[in-house]
Amino acid sequence: MSHIPVLLPEALTALCIQGDGIYLDCTFGRGGHSKAMLAELGQSGRVIGLDRDPSAVVVGEELGAADPRFQIVHTAFSALESALDQLGIGQVHGILMDLGVSSPQLDDAERGFSFQADGPLDMRMDPTHGESAAAWIARAEAEEIANVLWVFGEERFSRRIARAIVDARLLEPIVTTSQLSRIIANAQPKRDPNKHPATRAFQAIRLFINGELSEVEQGLSAAINRLEVGGRLAVISFHSLEDRLVKRALRDASRPPQGDPRMPLPETVARPKLKLIGKAIKAGSDELSKNPRARSAVLRIAERTEAA
Ligand SMILES: C[S@@+](CC[C@H](N)C(=O)[O-])C[C@H]1O[C@@H](n2cnc3c(N)ncnc32)[C@H](O)[C@@H]1O
Repeated sequence: MSHIPVLLPEALTALCIQGDGIYLDCTFGRGGHSKAMLAELGQSGRVIGLDRDPSAVVVGEELGAADPRFQIVHTAFSALESALDQLGIGQVHGILMDLGVSSPQLDDAERGFSFQADGPLDMRMDPTHGESAAAWIARAEAEEIANVLWVFGEERFSRRIARAIVDARLLEPIVTTSQLSRIIANAQPKRDPNKHPATRAFQAIRLFINGELSEVEQGLSAAINRLEVGGRLAVISFHSLEDRLVKRALRDASRPPQGDPRMPLPETVARPKLKLIGKAIKAGSDELSKNPRARSAVLRIAERTEAA
């Protein structure tokens, strides 16, 4: 149950690592990116890893015990500023976000992320917080379920599937991934032969249960606040909704303020906080042949400017 880090050399190059800098890996996972950052750092450099998943934190603690330049914090990255405050760290020299779920999370049936392996219907990255997918499926109205499937999964049969879920739960509680995946598959009048019929719905429910898009929004704004001038922000996303959000947030933070064009700009006007670096980067054919997970990965890079 290992995790192959995606776009690893590209992300490292993007971060422009200085030997004595402090770097933040917002999505530690199994530490592939963190370890590569540590390998580029000198003795006084540091990497702070964050992850909301307790099983990733266990791996991070082991790494911290073996390498004193590394520390892990169990938190969602939307709270990265308070994590840094608690460690007495102000600004950092580079920040990485490698969004989404890790291979161990998908592979462990007990986590309930996968429609391919039967397990309890959970889907929380942090099972110690919030509502599981089963609890939400048990109480949500059909309209709410349909909205989630449509907004987060662009699932065209969202209403039919939601109705089927509500009908099925009258007969018995929906508590396993295979129950849900069967209900979703049976509710679809047409199937895409290249995709499991539950793909979109499971992804939508996962994004919703973990509040993933609002995490990205809050995490990016906190990351911009904590980047040292000249520091790089590198974000890898795997989902088109996620990437759209990242693209917009970086673009907005790199634009001059949109004032009234007829009025002179006040002297104290805020300058943009970011400068975009290059275009979006995707995995090359070599990486794709070794790691199919890299297929949908998109890396976007920006640099913190001397904004007012
Ligand atoms: C794609 S994996 C990262 C893999 C990692 N770069 C590696 O090489 O092993 C994403 C990780 O980020 C964590 N994660 C996702 N969203 C998070 C959030 N909002 N806050 C903290 N951790 C998050 C997940 O629990 C998962 O372990």
